[in-house]
Amino acid sequence: MFVPLERLINLDEGYRNTFQVAGRRLLLLVLDNQPLLMEDSCPHRGAPLHMATLSNGVLRCQRHGMAFQLPSGRPLQEGCAGLMMLEIAYEGDRIGIDV
Ligand code: FES
Repeated sequence: MFVPLERLINLDEGYRNTFQVAGRRLLLLVLDNQPLLMEDSCPHRGAPLHMATLSNGVLRCQRHGMAFQLPSGRPLQEGCAGLMMLEIAYEGDRIGIDV
């Protein structure tokens, strides 16, 4: 089932928003004109990532400073899992997720 999150027309560079879908917190952001969808939860200790800094394609969690390369979500340090990146779905003029 497609769950719409945002209108495509609103996805400008720098867009960032969070959503609750089926009990999960999701983070949608736009980097280099590419929408990226991920769990809004740091794989280190679960801090929300919507306040994370984003610079040169690196998302850095505010809580303990773990950093992740986007768009892959790959961690930039040992001992930490990568971001849980999610597949984006499209329907009409909306971006969303299939659940
Ligand atoms: S919870 Fe994100 S770096 Fe620790």
